[in-house]
Amino acid sequence: MKELIQRLEQEALREIRAAAGGEMLEAARTKYLGRKGLLTEAFKKIGEASAEERPALGSLINEVKGRLGAALDERTRAASGGEEKAEKIDITLPGAPFRRGRIHPITKTVRDISDCFVSLGFMVVEGPEIETEHYNFEALNIPLEHPSRDAFDTFYLNSRSGTQLLRSHTSPVQARFMEKHKPPFAIIVPGRVFRPDATDATHSFMFHQVEGLVVGDRVTFADLKGVLAIFARQMFGVQTRMRFRPSFFPFTEPSAEVDISCFACARQKHLEGRRCSICGGKGWLEILGAGMVNPKVFKGVGYDPEKVTGFAFGMGVERIAMLKYGISDIRLFCENDIRFLRQF
Ligand code: PHE
Repeated sequence: MKELIQRLEQEALREIRAAAGGEMLEAARTKYLGRKGLLTEAFKKIGEASAEERPALGSLINEVKGRLGAALDERTRAASGGEEKAEKIDITLPGAPFRRGRIHPITKTVRDISDCFVSLGFMVVEGPEIETEHYNFEALNIPLEHPSRDAFDTFYLNSRSGTQLLRSHTSPVQARFMEKHKPPFAIIVPGRVFRPDATDATHSFMFHQVEGLVVGDRVTFADLKGVLAIFARQMFGVQTRMRFRPSFFPFTEPSAEVDISCFACARQKHLEGRRCSICGGKGWLEILGAGMVNPKVFKGVGYDPEKVTGFAFGMGVERIAMLKYGISDIRLFCENDIRFLRQF
């Protein structure tokens, strides 16, 4: 009988230790200490033992009941404590903020420029950054003695397949596209260009351009002005005015440099005679080069200049982004300073 009770205790303690939570502990309490529990049953059986053994058995059962009760209480407390802790995780609280990345200001500006021209029916086309002398210069009517062909103004690469270079503008894509397509068409060409300029606040050996080319039947200078006027207003605001100054590019004839009215002066009425920091007091900002496609360029790609006309333009993306966002140093675009990049 005594051994039976001791075995019962061992078994009960094992069960209590193994119990995974409050419910299992309650079940163990009923099983051993309940009114119909195993220890109560054992009590009833004391009568079967001899008279000498009965008192010892009675107190043994009471001791076991005490120990099991204490063990159950302790484990129950631990289990409910754990539950209380679990409840402290408030799943309704908002999550830890996750910082989202941003589009680089140059990418954003390229996209804004592209969106404007795409809405006018232009198609976006790209070309290679490693070019041949032919497409970068010859096809664009740029003669051998032109200063831009100097090694100081263009990155030449050593290669076995003729003279290759890093394109110094996006204009070579004009000839590449025309060789493979028939007019009419309207394309823009965003991309990286390279010039071995000394780096300063407004010059970098690598920057971006967006080229435009429209060729078709009776495309005129008026079309060029109209398209660029829409672009300027969309990019810099509806009050923006434009100015075309005569200029020269070997691949356009006539050629122009295009200015927009300084949006900063217009906004800064409070300048009161002080020089505007954006346009330097001139009131105009140069934003691109443009012109009517030179017939020599058409001939080079097999188009008949008597049958088609076209216009082309090219703008610097960094310059437009700097003007638009008031950025004073071109090097900021490449420094990866998160404080700068976060502002866009
Ligand atoms: N390619 C010229 C430059 O890089 C810009 C330009 C493009 C001018 C198309 C006229 C027409 O300066």
